[in-house]
Amino acid sequence: MTTLHEPAVPTAADALSVWPASAIEPREGELTVGGVPLSEVADRFGTPVYVIDEDEVRERCRTYRHAFPDAEVLYAAKAFLCRAMVHWVAEEGLGLDVCSAGELELAVTTGFPPERIVLHGNAKSPRDLDTALRLGVGRIVIDSPSEIARLAAAVGPHGHQKVMVRVVPGISAGGHEKIRTGAEDQKFGLSISDGYAQHAIARILDQPQLELTGLHCHLGSQITSVKPYLAAVRRMVGLLARLHEQHGLVLRELDLGGGHGIAYRPGEPALDLTTLARKVRAELAEACTAAGLAVPRLLIEPGRAIAGPAGIALYHVLSVKRTGAHTYVAVDGGMSDNPRPALYGVRYAPRLVGRHSGAAPAPVTVVGRHCEAGDILAADVELPDDIRPGDLLAVPAAGAYHLSMASGYNMVGRPPVVAVDDGHARLLIRRESLEDIRSRDVGL
Ligand SMILES: Cc1ncc(COP(=O)(O)O)c(C=O)c1O
Repeated sequence: MTTLHEPAVPTAADALSVWPASAIEPREGELTVGGVPLSEVADRFGTPVYVIDEDEVRERCRTYRHAFPDAEVLYAAKAFLCRAMVHWVAEEGLGLDVCSAGELELAVTTGFPPERIVLHGNAKSPRDLDTALRLGVGRIVIDSPSEIARLAAAVGPHGHQKVMVRVVPGISAGGHEKIRTGAEDQKFGLSISDGYAQHAIARILDQPQLELTGLHCHLGSQITSVKPYLAAVRRMVGLLARLHEQHGLVLRELDLGGGHGIAYRPGEPALDLTTLARKVRAELAEACTAAGLAVPRLLIEPGRAIAGPAGIALYHVLSVKRTGAHTYVAVDGGMSDNPRPALYGVRYAPRLVGRHSGAAPAPVTVVGRHCEAGDILAADVELPDDIRPGDLLAVPAAGAYHLSMASGYNMVGRPPVVAVDDGHARLLIRRESLEDIRSRDVGL
């Protein structure tokens, strides 16, 4: 039994708590996900490679639908998108949130119903808007005053487009300053406090071809507490009430964005969806009743919480270097396939897979292969003391904002994505080859 002051000894189950539910250790040193040994994925597809557990993605979509039965759940494509993901999300009954013509076209050409798609973006390009109108996107979220006239002109006097307005509720939340988007004075949305949101709404109401269906806000990312969402509900309902008073306007939708936090390492908190759903619904009902408003339909846009825990990044160790103070374990990927530690200081829990080591755990820093001292994937983590070149390392919670944020740095090429399901592995996205890189370079 542990006392209050003794740290709990992590159990084998704790160690897999941030892995897909299908992850098991059939024998010491081997780890299978979706019924496929990770060492087999590495042998077959090479490394670095991203592995995505299809069932985990689908199950997470179902958990959302179950927790929010009356809401429209839109998967935020920016977390990770490919054609298989589009299928899974569509089949599980979710909508889609996209933020570029690229994401939108991929989804629609894969067969995703455009009316279930919402287009975001703080600075939509002419191509984004033209593509959205051409493909018949469900709603466009207006993010700046100039977008109103541009969109109205593009829709034309006889056209029709549903829109929402991205509102800045003035609430700071999220795992890092760079991903807090609900506070004042950042590039997203239109503020309630300086009146820009109200002004934009009045202008939209003057455009008969634009139908304002509701308000949107997105507080930030990697939020692990329900409280900021409840504060957002109150602010947004306050604005709905003012709009009703001033314009007699009844808006039937309220989109609270995404940002639901996940655990990257065992023991870290994640946002509890059931509590979020229950408390947000209650807060919304109470605030609307107090304001004499009908309760709008809720929309939510989770990205990370659907894709993140379903993904794993696999690397081979290329070198182990012991300096005075540190042991640097260098792998065959790095900041080009995972910029998140360098961008936001995110901490991961890599693990040796593919062989059993009886060596004691020792502190190491896992670094990438890129020409930058800040190319650190996991600082001060524990790996077996006999870690050596050729070993395989697996990084859990790597399904969101890894491939979608991957870069071309050092021309190493972006890793492939392999889906695992029911004992089978299949390639979803192939590795970016040197030929791919060369073929884009067309001038001399
Ligand atoms: C408008 C909007 N919705 C949803 C999301 C998804 O956020 P998360 O992946 O943290 O759930 C983002 C992330 O940037 C966003 O900007």
